[in-house]
Amino acid sequence: MSTPNNRIIVAIDGFSSSGKSTMARRLASKIGYRYIDSGAMYRAVTLYGLDTGLINADNLIDTEALVAALPSIVIDFAPQPDGSQHTLLNGRDVEEEIRRLRVSNAVSPVAAIPQVRHALVAMQQALGRERGIVMDGRDIGTTVFPDAELKIFVDASAQTRARRRFKEMIEKGAQVSYEDILANVVHRDHIDRTREESPLRRADDAIAIDNSEMTIEEQDEWLMERFLEATSGSKH
Ligand code: CDP
Repeated sequence: MSTPNNRIIVAIDGFSSSGKSTMARRLASKIGYRYIDSGAMYRAVTLYGLDTGLINADNLIDTEALVAALPSIVIDFAPQPDGSQHTLLNGRDVEEEIRRLRVSNAVSPVAAIPQVRHALVAMQQALGRERGIVMDGRDIGTTVFPDAELKIFVDASAQTRARRRFKEMIEKGAQVSYEDILANVVHRDHIDRTREESPLRRADDAIAIDNSEMTIEEQDEWLMERFLEATSGSKH
């Protein structure tokens, strides 16, 4: 497929905490593409709702008010000196806050609201207009970029995913239990898979990978091979 400068779109979808963000970020930095974490955008909208009381302490959402507030929620990504990006919510760096369990526990119902999805999908499509982008999420290969040249679908067992997320959060100093993380992973899987609007599913033309038993280096290598195939035209 020919694209401007031969730059393609790489869509990486999969279950929560499957390691797709790590895969996506590392590939993007190696090939010089922009990396966009679409989950961070759903998390930022959720944080806005929690901070403004439009999502209450029981995670009940005032959907109408949250939808009405969408035009005043501005999400940006700020590149960092170490090559990573921080998510900005109305100009404020919220990278650390959006990863907390408070947000993880509220995000999937927010991401199931059709108007929220429409607004964020439009932003994601605008970010990919020039191609040369690696984006990860739940519906990138199915809804955001159905024409992506390379689509990957990542899975791993719920226990493996919860263990990884637990380790990551403990390393960051968070006070969390493995059981709470596992419950959150299983709960989000369920909501993401069963929602009406763009449910999580593998696109028919996505390449599946289960990375339960793979190291980061092994998955990097696997993904780079898929990328080289996709850009050389030897496959797809
Ligand atoms: O990294 P992790 O798997 O914890 O989640 P994430 O990618 O940060 O996404 C957080 C939540 O946003 C997911 O559980 C989904 O409910 C939602 N999401 C979505 O619906 N569509 C996307 N493209 C990305 C995330």
